[in-house]
Order: sequence, then C-alpha cells, then structure tokens
Amino acid sequence: MADFQYYTPTRVAFGRGGPEKTGALAKQAGAHKVLLHYGGGSAVRSGVLARVEASLRAAGIEVVTLGGAVPNPRLSLVREGIALCLREGVDLLVAVGGGSTIDSAKAMAYGAAEPDKDVWELYEHTRRPAACLPLGAVVTIAAAGSEMSDSSVITKDEGGVKRGCNSDLCRPRFAVMDPELTLTLPAYQTACGCTDIMMHTMERYFVSGPTMQLTDALAEGLLRTVMANARVLQDDPQNYDARAEVLWASSLSHNGLTGCGITQSDFACHGLEHELGGRYDIAHGAGLAAVWGSWARYVYRDCLPRFAQFAVRVMGVPDAGGAQATALRGIETLESFFRSIGMPTSLRELGITPTEADLDALARGCALAAGGKKGSARVLYEADMRAIYAMAR
Ligand code: NZQ
Ligand code: ZN
Repeated sequence: MADFQYYTPTRVAFGRGGPEKTGALAKQAGAHKVLLHYGGGSAVRSGVLARVEASLRAAGIEVVTLGGAVPNPRLSLVREGIALCLREGVDLLVAVGGGSTIDSAKAMAYGAAEPDKDVWELYEHTRRPAACLPLGAVVTIAAAGSEMSDSSVITKDEGGVKRGCNSDLCRPRFAVMDPELTLTLPAYQTACGCTDIMMHTMERYFVSGPTMQLTDALAEGLLRTVMANARVLQDDPQNYDARAEVLWASSLSHNGLTGCGITQSDFACHGLEHELGGRYDIAHGAGLAAVWGSWARYVYRDCLPRFAQFAVRVMGVPDAGGAQATALRGIETLESFFRSIGMPTSLRELGITPTEADLDALARGCALAAGGKKGSARVLYEADMRAIYAMAR
C-alpha cells in the first residue's frame, strides 16, 4: 500500500430535520452574515430553502440569497455571487442543493477571499488558491459528494469550457444531510446520482500500483450497496432508508476514504465527461455512464487483475474461465446495470452524434485540461481519448 493523508474537516449532521439544524451549525462556524445560494428552484418548491433561511435567522444570522445555479454551473453567476459577498460583507456561504450549487458556492468563496484576483485562473490552473471563505452545504441530491470533497467544477459560459479546481481550502465546514430532502428527486436524477457515486469510487479502484485490502473492502461494499439501493429506489422512490444509504455513500465515495493507500487515482472518465458536459450541457452522471464501457474495454488489459476482481466481488460474476473473460463479463454486467436504471451506455443514447471534427475537439480539450495525459489504470494521451470517444459513439 502507498502512504496517504486523509483529511475530512466537514462536520456532518445526518438525518431528519436537517434544515432546522443549519442555524446552529452556521453559528458554530462563526457566521454573522450568510450568502444562501441555491439552484433552479427545486429547493424553493419543496420549502427547504425557506426552512434553512428561518433556521439561520432564528440563530441571529443575517441572510442574503442568490439563486440560479444550473447543472454545469456557470462562471457568470459565480462572478455575480462574488460581488454580492463583497458588497454585503458575507462571512459564510451556505449552498442548498447538489454538486452544481455547492461548486458554485465554492467558487464564490474562493473569489470573495481573494477579490483582487480573477477566480477563473484557479480553474485554468494558472494560479493556486491561497484563501477561501468558509462554507456549508445542505444537500438535496445524493450524487457529486461536493459536500465533503476538495473539488469544485465550473463551466465558463463562452465556449462551454468546464474545468475543476481541487484544494482542501474549499472543503465545507459542515454538511447537512437529510435523506428526506432527496425524496423529491426525479428518477433520472436519482440514477445519474447513483452512477456518479459509483464512479467516484471506481476512479480510485481501477488503478495501477499498490492498493489496500481494507480500502478494497470498503470500496466494494460501497459499490454493492449503491447498486442494491438504486434498484430499490426505482420501484420505491419514497424509501427513506434507501435514500439514506445512497446519500451517505455519496459523501464517502468522494471524501477520500475509498482512495486511501493507492498511489494515484484514475479519473479519466471524469476528464472525458467534463469535456462532454461543457460542450453539450448534459447531466454529469449520464455522461459518465455513456463513456465508461468504452473506457473500460480500452484499458482493461492494462489493469486486468483489478477488472477481474471487480467482476467477481462487485458484479457477482462467476469466474468465466480466466481473468480476461471474467473482466469482460464484469464490464458487460455493469453496463447492463446502468441500462436497467435508465442510464445511457453510448453517446448516441445520450443524444450526442459527434462528427470527426467534434471527436478531435473533444480529445484536444480533454488532453489540454489534463495537462497532456490522464489515468492510472492506463495512462491516456490525446489519441487514446479520441479513440475512446469514437468507441463510445
Ligand atoms: O437546480 P434545481 O432546481 O435544484 O434542480 C436540480 C438539478 O436540475 C435537481 N435537484 C437537486 N435536488 C433536488 C432536485 N430536484 C428535485 N428534488 C431535489 N431534492 O437535480 C438536478 C441536478 O442537480 P446538480 O446539483 O447538477 O446535481 P449533481 O449533484 O449531480 O451535481 C453535478 C455537478 O457537480 C459536478 C459535476 O461535474 C456537475 O457540474 N461534480 C462535482 C464534484 C465535486 N465538487 O466534488 C465531483 C463530481 O465528480 C462532479 O464533477
Ligand atoms: Zn463525478
């Protein structure tokens, strides 16, 4: 196993009545004036936003609100939020929503903490963040895991350039995780979320180099649990316990726990998806499902023992007469699972029919964002990325 550091500074308040806990948590984080950030309106319609605001005010905290974060959150709104934070003297941001809203708040928190600098430089990787306002999250969808992650992903409006910035500075001070808040999710968003949760662990599982038995056991258990409960939620979307299982999995899958003891995670599928998300504005989880099978078939020979182990321990595939056949059976079985929960397994099913020139542009953008190469199961260069996009058509 490899040496590692594990850093999770986020206080988690898990369970029913979450919105009412927000005021005390914000107070504990030292807040006097909060920017309450939300998305396209689901939190207004469900009443969650009003409950959070009431809790903050009851704790004696002033509140300014800003809605409008969209899936693949935009830089233009981030800039608006930074200006609002500075004008109002905000000292804590609270995001009510999913990865998009939390990431948008993280970018605002970076920008407001270093107001003389352009926040986009952090996402272009021409500068590292030196400061970030504190933030908290009230999670309404089990998916991205941004409530405990070090990551924030923003899309620049012009040209649809989607880029991520990773730093411990943006890890939320607290996360309110109330499974009841996720009961209003449409089936498609539930499935997208479960796919993304699985992918965050799989990006740390399909690696070359040393691994760790305990981490493997945690990862495999998490993946089996998410699949089982994604199936339950298809037929019974109001099932509180199933919602709770996937909600907690969303945090554990992306807070570093399922990556302890490995040298380097893979995250090639995320790189491939981010390029698609920026250009075609698709749901993140669906984009991951659409490329995963093609990526897996392209790289599995370079990471054969891991793919064979995954097939047996996670997908429940019996030994198919050798590692290669078993690994391939595992890939097919996961693709079948994705289809069974309504996820696409090709770009066409995602509604994208890229031309040859589009494939060139996607691969160029993906390679550029990654600094030329990406991956651990197999290191991918621009030509490899293009080949995978072409396979995924
Ligand atoms: O905007 P509203 O109206 O709230 O609607 C949202 C949105 O349309 C809706 N929704 C959320 N909670 C709901 C609900 N609808 C009904 N009831 C509820 N309780 O769901 C839709 C998707 O929301 P979004 O926040 O976009 O979902 P998700 O959490 O999947 O976030 C996706 C974004 O996170 C990034 C992705 O790239 C994408 O931009 N990621 C962020 C990561 C991170 N910061 O660590 C890691 C991920 O790998 C990912 O890249
Ligand atoms: Zn993801």
